[in-house]
Amino acid sequence: MNAVPDNLPGRDVAGLLAEQETKSLLKFLTCGSVDDGKSTLIGRLLYDAKQVFDDQFAAVARDSRRFGTVGEEVDLALLLDGLEAEREQGITIDVAHRYFTTAKRKFIVADTPGHEQYTRNMATGASTSDLAVILVDARAGLVTQTRRHAYIVSTLGIRHVVLAVNKIDLVDFSGERFEEISTAFAAFTRDFGFSSVQAIPVSARYGDNVSARSARIDWYDGPTLIEHLESVDVRSSTAAKPFRMSVQWVNRPNLDFRGFSGTIASGRIRPGEPIVVAKSGKTAKVARIVTYDGDLEEAEAGEAVTLTLDEEIDISRGDLLADPKARPTVDDGFVAKLVWMAEEPLTGGRALLVKCGAKTVAATVAAVRHDIDVESLAERPSRQLALNAVARVELRLAEAIAFDPYDEDRETGAFVLIDRLTNATVAAGMIEAGLGRATNVHRQATKVTREVRASQKGQRPKVVWFTGLSGAGKSTIADLTEQKLVAAGRHTYLLDGDNLRHALNRDLGFSDRDRAENIRRVAEVAKLMADAGLIVLVSFISPFRAERAAARATIGEADFVEVFVDTPLEVCEARDAKGLYARARAGEIANFTGLTSPYEPPERPDLRIEGARVDAEAAAEAVVAAILGASEDWSI
Ligand code: ADX
Repeated sequence: MNAVPDNLPGRDVAGLLAEQETKSLLKFLTCGSVDDGKSTLIGRLLYDAKQVFDDQFAAVARDSRRFGTVGEEVDLALLLDGLEAEREQGITIDVAHRYFTTAKRKFIVADTPGHEQYTRNMATGASTSDLAVILVDARAGLVTQTRRHAYIVSTLGIRHVVLAVNKIDLVDFSGERFEEISTAFAAFTRDFGFSSVQAIPVSARYGDNVSARSARIDWYDGPTLIEHLESVDVRSSTAAKPFRMSVQWVNRPNLDFRGFSGTIASGRIRPGEPIVVAKSGKTAKVARIVTYDGDLEEAEAGEAVTLTLDEEIDISRGDLLADPKARPTVDDGFVAKLVWMAEEPLTGGRALLVKCGAKTVAATVAAVRHDIDVESLAERPSRQLALNAVARVELRLAEAIAFDPYDEDRETGAFVLIDRLTNATVAAGMIEAGLGRATNVHRQATKVTREVRASQKGQRPKVVWFTGLSGAGKSTIADLTEQKLVAAGRHTYLLDGDNLRHALNRDLGFSDRDRAENIRRVAEVAKLMADAGLIVLVSFISPFRAERAAARATIGEADFVEVFVDTPLEVCEARDAKGLYARARAGEIANFTGLTSPYEPPERPDLRIEGARVDAEAAAEAVVAAILGASEDWSI
């Protein structure tokens, strides 16, 4: 075997470099579960492309005899072993990029660890890749991890996929087995929006169908893996899309020059053409397109440029410049699909940073709407997300930003979530749509606004949220509070847990998930009622901190008053007005709050009522005083 690289320095370097420069580049990532043979496959690709130095190969051949698992053969996976070892010790948990080249193309492969907890790295690798090679073990077929990988790859916008059905030698080169796996994969990914899916039977260990066609797989007449990677057309049409450029920095070397630098995310631009600053709506025309190599007559997606304009308009770092005829969405919230990549679970109400293009803003996860089962693709209402979960969430931002839905523009529709404290990236996401709240461009459309409705009623809307154990006295106090407010001429509504559970929420039980959905709906209804101008009293156990925080985010800090009816469990149980504690003790009611389901008390309620000490009448007085006294401009 000749492992001497024939295209490495020492030969005609200049000629080789020139040749390399004209070749197109394919960036791809590999994903598979542990033991699917990913390392062996990458090792094989590098080896076949003769990108392995002779001494490296000799070392691997030596190690193969000592540690290898493939008998007399050279264990190519050992080529990557240094890295694997680091990973196992938790030293580097990262994506490794490897470069190789063939006569037709240059390749960068993002090698991502296969362990379940490293899906995060996969997402990182995926965000810059054009194609994904998903490995399966022919013996195991599609496993949960395969489906998860396919799903993440699709949500991260990769449009080209190779299903490498590896270890085909271990199923006796069975064409039927290959068919079975590739058909199941095609069925599973039918709605994923892939532009190309190529299934290839391979044996990474022996090299069958990697770069050399296998004589042992004579029933397969498709391309080898390398043939496919060399020829697949992954050019995207980003240059054909409307112009978008996120301003990375404002370049002002002297008073005579003011340029806006960034990489064009999509579309193309020429001097003389108009642009709009998406958020402010200000427009100007491009004067020059400046680069280190001189001015350009035209620039397109992927190019790093500095634009100067014919007019001085206000533009700062993070602003999105766009085609005025095809403007992006500007909103202070959006619904997005994301992959949660942190160890600690994501819960509603969590405070994070959103980074979208060059813009970073504070954000709150207002609601986790659904998590998505990667086996069945079913959506389940959810209150929190574990590591690697994919889900649909609602994010509220501290200020409006400009973006496009991800399926319209992969560049301006992608974002990452960053933990405010640790600065770690905790999720990668795809924007589906803006929330279209009253603060966005549609605002002019509705003449009767929240303010109009409120002033017609002569009051400032509020949501007063009573939380506490069953039997704490919430409903009684809320009822008295409402009577007092009405007597004082206020317009109110009382949303009560037991009542809503007979109607709007009658499909919900008392599991954590159902309670989360119960609270999410109530928060939305309360928000609508506050929009209608009412003072809304909400009386629900609402046992979980995260959901109450999400409700606060939905309704808005300024309008939300949290009242904790703090009555000890013993007192509630002794009262047992509805006989439920007795039944729960007898095992007749599952997940009973305080007994078999937790109650998380508020840490900083706006008002705390000691339910065992204060009578309901006095408590209601206190609430009314708190609400009415809380705001100086109570009457508008
Ligand atoms: S919440 O936890 O989802 O906020 P909610 O306030 O709507 O609860 O409903 C609580 C009421 O349902 C209680 O006042 C009680 O009458 C009744 N209930 C029935 N089963 C349970 C249970 N397992 N846990 C708590 N309350 C229950």
